[in-house]
Amino acid sequence: MTPTPHISAGSGEFAPDMLMPGDPKRAARIAADLLTDATLVTDVRGISGFTGTIGGRPLSVMASGMGNPSISIYATELYRFYGVRRIIRVGTCGGIPEDLAVGDVVVASAAHTESTTGTVRVPGVSLSLAPSPHLLRSALTASGADVRVGPVLSTDFFYLTRPGVVDALGELGTLAIEMEAAGLYATAMAEGAEALAILTVSDHVKTRAAMSSDERERRYERMLDLAVKTLSL
Ligand code: HPA
Repeated sequence: MTPTPHISAGSGEFAPDMLMPGDPKRAARIAADLLTDATLVTDVRGISGFTGTIGGRPLSVMASGMGNPSISIYATELYRFYGVRRIIRVGTCGGIPEDLAVGDVVVASAAHTESTTGTVRVPGVSLSLAPSPHLLRSALTASGADVRVGPVLSTDFFYLTRPGVVDALGELGTLAIEMEAAGLYATAMAEGAEALAILTVSDHVKTRAAMSSDERERRYERMLDLAVKTLSL
């Protein structure tokens, strides 16, 4: 059943493996930087998706838009109708612990959320939202010591975190705040597919240190390297 309501690509136009940043401009840039023979395969609502090869292996890059609902729509259509099997979110996050610096890379081994993405599927149960154990193992093997691994908060509200929530989450070992890992992990679970979120700390919620938007684009390299290696193991 392709195209789908939100993706205009035809059947077979996506690779089984995908990198998924939030921003469509970043998707275009990643495709241009990483892929050989990148072809634009969808552009509905400006959410661009590309397919090409890297080291001879097919790879797609497509944006998710912002938030758990948006990534859930795209990931569902990609897994269910386009044969995509593994999606690695490559995005930015706000760091929580003081020893996490802007530019550091975080691998999300779990995603807490106040979004209903974890509670709508089984009444009365809050699902544990976790990445594919295979992708997580590959990421840990590929990364060496220079990444932080732990839970993140995938919030639906960039501007509405209640006072105290970040401190409480930090005390529970939560590394960062972002907006899509939980939606992606829940969708992968529902569709019987694989997902992982690898994030770059773009700002710090306590120290207020931040990257400029220009810097965000350039400091993506370590995270992208790790994502590509993870898919190749
Ligand atoms: N909150 C939510 N999402 C984010 C943040 C943040 O502080 N930083 C980068 N993405």
